[in-house]
Amino acid sequence: MRSFFLLAALALGAAAQTWTSCNPLNQTCPPDTALGTEHTWYMNSTSKIDTDIWNMTNSMPPTYTDDGADFTLSKEGEAVLVTSNFYIFFGVVESWVKMSPGVGMISSVVLESDDLDEIDWEWVGNDTNSVQTDFFGKGNTTTYGRGTTFPVENAASEWHNYTTYWTSGYLEWWVDGQLARNLTYDDPLTLGGTNYPQTPCRIKVSIWPAGLPGVSKWTIQWAGGLVNWDEAPFTMSVKSIRAKDFHSGKEYIYGNRSGSYQSIKVIDGNSTIADDLNKKPSESVSDKWNKLPEGAHIGVYVAAGVVGAIAVAGFLFWCLRQRRNGRLENALGDNQHANERDEMQNYQNDWKQSEWRATEWRNSGYGQIRS
Ligand SMILES: *[C@@H]1O[C@H](CO)[C@@H](O)[C@H](O)[C@H]1NC(C)=O
Ligand SMILES: *[C@@H]1O[C@H](CO)[C@@H](O)[C@H](O)[C@H]1NC(C)=O
Ligand SMILES: *[C@@H]1O[C@H](CO)[C@@H](O)[C@H](O)[C@H]1NC(C)=O
Ligand SMILES: *[C@@H]1O[C@H](CO)[C@@H](O)[C@H](O)[C@H]1NC(C)=O
Ligand SMILES: *[C@@H]1O[C@H](CO)[C@@H](O)[C@H](O)[C@H]1NC(C)=O
Ligand SMILES: *[C@@H]1O[C@H](CO)[C@@H](O)[C@H](O)[C@H]1NC(C)=O
Ligand SMILES: *[C@@H]1O[C@H](CO)[C@@H](O)[C@H](O)[C@H]1NC(C)=O
Ligand SMILES: *[C@@H]1O[C@H](CO)[C@@H](O)[C@H](O)[C@H]1NC(C)=O
Ligand SMILES: *[C@@H]1O[C@H](CO)[C@@H](O)[C@H](O)[C@H]1NC(C)=O
Repeated sequence: MRSFFLLAALALGAAAQTWTSCNPLNQTCPPDTALGTEHTWYMNSTSKIDTDIWNMTNSMPPTYTDDGADFTLSKEGEAVLVTSNFYIFFGVVESWVKMSPGVGMISSVVLESDDLDEIDWEWVGNDTNSVQTDFFGKGNTTTYGRGTTFPVENAASEWHNYTTYWTSGYLEWWVDGQLARNLTYDDPLTLGGTNYPQTPCRIKVSIWPAGLPGVSKWTIQWAGGLVNWDEAPFTMSVKSIRAKDFHSGKEYIYGNRSGSYQSIKVIDGNSTIADDLNKKPSESVSDKWNKLPEGAHIGVYVAAGVVGAIAVAGFLFWCLRQRRNGRLENALGDNQHANERDEMQNYQNDWKQSEWRATEWRNSGYGQIRS
């Protein structure tokens, strides 16, 4: 039995390596953009997610409330992944989250590096009164017992503060100001530190179905059962994310292939992200509009009318051409879809991680409650 788990973990570990596009332990990779500062991103109806800073791979765009951003899955095949374009090299990440309820559904906030170090918060939809913590070093999936479970009341209906405080010596998980876990560099689980998360990480927020037909029964068990799509929509909400980078630089580079924090080079300067954040927010379009004299408003309406007429004519012309070029357009369209499919396919590979995560979780005795 034991060797079965080991084999499964090894096999799935290979799949997990598709998770990074360039692994600096094996290749020379482009530098990582540093955050290099501290910032809080509020994600609500007035301050929406800045897509210059956060990449979104999602089935549906988020919807915003006054309180936060709602990431919603309505049907099979959907998932949401929001990834920061910046990296932090040790630091603090504070996220205010309402997990998605629903058997089989996983909400997560993860720090992940290019060589697959990972610091995780995971919420399993069938248990709305706890959160799981986990970590990985260098994508090593062959160790067990790293996951823990911590109680949180009403994690799906109330906002809670989930904060990781990450240094080279220790890694703390805090829930509403209560220490949920403190992992030290020399903890036996880190294998003498080599599997301690220690390389620059991006922030990844996601909601994804783990309880799907075809996955292992351990995964289904970890996820609490199969997703019941009749209960859709499933929504994970995020109010804000605060990230503080303990280094202030422009970029991070892997100095060698050891994956140790000592090998990471911090390139001096302001990061593009920091520069972006330092810029004063520009005047909003409606502010500008309101400052225009009345005559200018009328001028703009007239111009808009002309533009509208041109647009209609253009659209008719486009429709005619479209009929001729239909095949080409279709081919291009197919290509576009192929790209989107690839992206989703990659993401589905990510889900395979849940396989070994589940194995890991099972072997750790269904997680332990730490308090
Ligand atoms: C690096 O490459 C070797 C051989 O090409 C492979 O066995 C190993 O799994 C790779 N390691 C990582 C971390 O990708
Ligand atoms: C969104 O969050 C910001 C920062 O907390 C706040 O100033 C703003 O009022 C919020 N928007 C709404 C509609 O509540
Ligand atoms: C974000 O998306 C852009 C465009 O698809 C891509 O070039 C870039 O590598 C992505 N950044 C990250 C950090 O994934
Ligand atoms: C991964 O973990 C196992 C222990 O389960 C250990 O024997 C192995 O050396 C580790 N691999 C790496 C590359 O750290
Ligand atoms: C969230 O929790 C962290 C860790 O306990 C704490 O430092 C931070 O101040 C909390 N945030 C708020 C807004 O209370
Ligand atoms: C976590 O462990 C480190 C290393 O032992 C220690 O310095 C730190 O104070 C601990 N954190 C808390 C909150 O006890
Ligand atoms: C979640 O599912 C697991 C596995 O089916 C089960 O053991 C556990 O009791 C469930 N938790 C809740 C809160 O229903
Ligand atoms: C990697 O770089 C660090 C820091 O310079 C050094 O201590 C370590 O020996 C190097 N490791 C390898 C395998 O080159
Ligand atoms: C970095 O940003 C600060 C604040 O915007 C600015 O004063 C400084 O000149 C910048 N430094 C560089 C090297 O661009």
